[in-house]
Amino acid sequence: MRAYFNSDNYAPVLPEVMDALATVNAGHEPAYGYDSVTKRVEGLLRREFGEQAHAFLVFNGTGANIVGLRTLLQPWQGVVCAESAHLNVDEGGAPERMGGIKLLTVPAPDGKLTPELVDRRIVRIGDEHAIQPGVVSVTQSTELGTLYTPEELRALVDHAHARGMRLHIDGARLTNAAAALGVPLRAISTDVGADAVSFGGTKAGLMLGEAVVLLGGGLEAALPYLRKQSMQLASKMRFVAAGFEALLADELWRRAAGHANAMAARLAAALEGVEGVRISQRVQANVVFAVLPPGVGERLQREWGFYTWDELAGEVRWMCSHDTRAEDVDAFAAAIRDAVA
Ligand SMILES: Cc1ncc(COP(=O)(O)O)c(C=O)c1O
Repeated sequence: MRAYFNSDNYAPVLPEVMDALATVNAGHEPAYGYDSVTKRVEGLLRREFGEQAHAFLVFNGTGANIVGLRTLLQPWQGVVCAESAHLNVDEGGAPERMGGIKLLTVPAPDGKLTPELVDRRIVRIGDEHAIQPGVVSVTQSTELGTLYTPEELRALVDHAHARGMRLHIDGARLTNAAAALGVPLRAISTDVGADAVSFGGTKAGLMLGEAVVLLGGGLEAALPYLRKQSMQLASKMRFVAAGFEALLADELWRRAAGHANAMAARLAAALEGVEGVRISQRVQANVVFAVLPPGVGERLQREWGFYTWDELAGEVRWMCSHDTRAEDVDAFAAAIRDAVA
């Protein structure tokens, strides 16, 4: 099998992160987040997201979403999200079963919510027989590799707040979005008025670890209890924190995510105008979606790793990561061109 285009989760850990893990692996430190490394990372995340931000490290993205959403919601409230949201299609029903969270989905062909789409689920307000929409959850970058501009996010936040709702960002790939837009992390979270973000570390190059970052609203007192109840409290937390410390130092995250984005752009450019390959989503972050003629995807998969996204439509997903090599992209593009010729 040649170089993988399956997922940024297939990629190794960034070397700087591996070094950081070795560095903190000395002596005893207090457990459960009371260690010196976690304290430093909490400070670094405050620097990224603003003085009012409170960050809590967790194991994985599904857990980050559930802990964050539980913090933002009342028990009678649900979450408006895109039908294609990871929350809805790839978390094994964890929001519903582990978080008791009802998802109020809307179709969004490019993975992006708009105020108009959100409005479809803002119904029966004040009716005790109906779930009340409490949070809008957007994904940045989206499952389909598209991006929200800061202005689009601001419009969604204002729309939600005007209706007494909060806005959550699933930022499993927030670094890809910030790198692509050329902005600081806070420009697409804190500065647009969002209430909470699941800030992704794993896909950016950590061994494991995400952060639930509350951006204001005084909800931080509840979070430690909800994190523990949700089984997301790491005892040896310094090893989760060490990765974040490396990732946040000198904006390593921007270099890593920027490279992944550039590799996806390179692949898309190499396939532009190739008959038989239809790029099916705008390529704005680190992933390319394409529709291929029947049988072509399967043939390519004998040699190259990537996912079939939609079997019926013949749509495939090619994802790049911090370690994707330009020569592998070029060889893959050549193989695709041969396969459709
Ligand atoms: C957008 C998004 N959110 C959340 C997650 C969940 O992350 P994890 O697999 O670490 O639970 C993923 C993972 O693929 C994701 O792509």
